Amino acid sequence: MNKKNQPIIIDFEPISRRIHFIPGLSLYQTLISNGIRIRSLCGGLGTCGKCKILIQKGRNALTPPTQNEHELLEKEELEKNWRLACQAYLNEQELEIIRKKEPPHLRIFLPDELLIEDFKVLTEGIQKEMKINPAIKKFFCVVEPPTLSRPIPDLERLLTKIKETHGVSLHDGIRIEHDVLKSLPQILRTSKNGVTITEWNEQSIIAIEEGNKTQNNFGIAIDIGTTTLVGYLINLNDGKTHAISSKLNPQTAYGEDLITRITFIKENKKGLQKLHDLIIEAINEIIIKTCKMGNISPYQIHEASIVGNSVMHHIFLNINPTYIGLSPYVPALQRNIDIPNKNFGLKIHPNGNIHLLPLIAGFVGADTMGVMLASNVDKEEELTLVIDIGTNGELIIGNKYILATGSCAAGSALEGAHIKDGMRAASGSIDTVKIDPETFEIKYTTIKNRPPIGICGSGLIDIIAEMLKSKIITRNGNFNKNFLDHERIIKKNKEHAFIIVKKENTPLNRDITISQSDIRQIQMAKAAFYSGMKIILQELNSKLIHENPDPLSISQIFLAGAFGNYIDKHNTKFIGMIPDIPAEKIFQIGNAAGSGAKLCLINKNLRKKAQKLLKRITYVEIATKKMFQREYAQAMYFPHMNLDEFFSLKDFYLHLPIR
Ligand code: FES
Repeated sequence: MNKKNQPIIIDFEPISRRIHFIPGLSLYQTLISNGIRIRSLCGGLGTCGKCKILIQKGRNALTPPTQNEHELLEKEELEKNWRLACQAYLNEQELEIIRKKEPPHLRIFLPDELLIEDFKVLTEGIQKEMKINPAIKKFFCVVEPPTLSRPIPDLERLLTKIKETHGVSLHDGIRIEHDVLKSLPQILRTSKNGVTITEWNEQSIIAIEEGNKTQNNFGIAIDIGTTTLVGYLINLNDGKTHAISSKLNPQTAYGEDLITRITFIKENKKGLQKLHDLIIEAINEIIIKTCKMGNISPYQIHEASIVGNSVMHHIFLNINPTYIGLSPYVPALQRNIDIPNKNFGLKIHPNGNIHLLPLIAGFVGADTMGVMLASNVDKEEELTLVIDIGTNGELIIGNKYILATGSCAAGSALEGAHIKDGMRAASGSIDTVKIDPETFEIKYTTIKNRPPIGICGSGLIDIIAEMLKSKIITRNGNFNKNFLDHERIIKKNKEHAFIIVKKENTPLNRDITISQSDIRQIQMAKAAFYSGMKIILQELNSKLIHENPDPLSISQIFLAGAFGNYIDKHNTKFIGMIPDIPAEKIFQIGNAAGSGAKLCLINKNLRKKAQKLLKRITYVEIATKKMFQREYAQAMYFPHMNLDEFFSLKDFYLHLPIR
């Protein structure tokens, strides 16, 4: 295409939407014209100040801030490149310079309060029967006042009463919070109806309240994902989930993936503090929201159980995660830890405890440990593959005899990144697709039945599988030469593309397509998973071969994470992302990482189990294994391919993922 006519491309995060800047329209109007609805009170007149966006790349491509922006935004905000979407237009003076730059020419972050449509965040996980044995326990007792004949000190009377009433001995070495001690003489004398004490892990007494408050025993489990956060308010008396809420991880404003966030921390003196503050603030919002939904006070939460990948875990703890991104990719700590909330700043009870599940390795974090605990893969008889598909992909292979794990850089294409019409699972994204093999007519559904504006991961998998079944593409991923003159196959930017939605049926006013390079991106993502699995299997086989002459093979698959939950398992198998085993042996287990965090709240023994699993599990650094490149290149094929058919092998090596 003539550079002069080249469109100005904007990537909008965190929704991963790539769109063309429409000359003559403001950013606000460009968003609306592309079907992305954002909040505004003034309808784009520049008077409400609601359409705040952050320019992460390409500020010079926009007209300078207007008088309205100077009035409605803080000076500091303008310095940090916040703008009002309705006031920013394409800077026509700079067009030539902008066009010379690599697309995207602009990268813009949309804060989640700006987006009208909610994201589809997976909150459901597997439900397991679990014995109730939380670390937080509440004991109610009525303590008799001291007398001259029995002048026993307050604390001793209280502890003795707990032992008599509940059979629990808290005498030896028990730690008591100072504020509890201070209030003890008063509360024992004024509370005629007895007192309730809250103790943590048989180690410390963290609260004392008047009356019987044993029914108010809550914990919160938090799953810190690279893109989304989910909070589960748990009733620790019965293990039931009382309320759930989620939100986008606000750190996405500083980088979509982990490596970009590590780079932000490296390059900015206060970068770590900034990302730490953001995550604490977002978690606090979740705590307040779930408590409101559950009609309880945040003060009634005495413990938080946290899972997240290693980088999120470190940033949560305000520990620099830089070394996780550098060879040999070692985290600062591995074991599970408990830290007092005092001075930490979560909006739970100030004397509450924060429990973090252990990390497995630099790129396999506490979230994978959560998946392991929730899936019980370590108890399976059959060899089981567990895939957690998020922004990164983690794999566990194991059963009651063996256990290994590794991670692959695969998820972001499946979240819509690097796919021209790809986007995250939000309203208007195409999530299921069927293609008529005779006519190539397409049937699709969109999230919330909104007009289609892009394609999310499950839609992408369907499209590739359906294109294969209809022979629109061959098994090496190229367009089938026999159909190149079909009206749905067009030539766009020197490559072929298949029209999924014609322009008259979308608010985008252009076709929604899948191009040859989009197909390659999906091939790379699925190859990363499949080759990762094969490398881990080879590692296990090499260890076991002398005991077991038959090589191991996968008998069942658990798909975890949001993407794993929504994809069509038949199509996922069909494109060769997972092994070809009967569909009834493939189970979708939902947000298993979050379930693992919940289970650790409900039964503290799982924390010990997590520590034991650390000793059992073998971590495989997939990308450094000798066979990885070959396995990866082979896995780029769609299934049942003969290597001879694959004529451009060397091109694929050029696209190997970079850590
Ligand atoms: Fe009101 Fe932009 S929409 S200021």
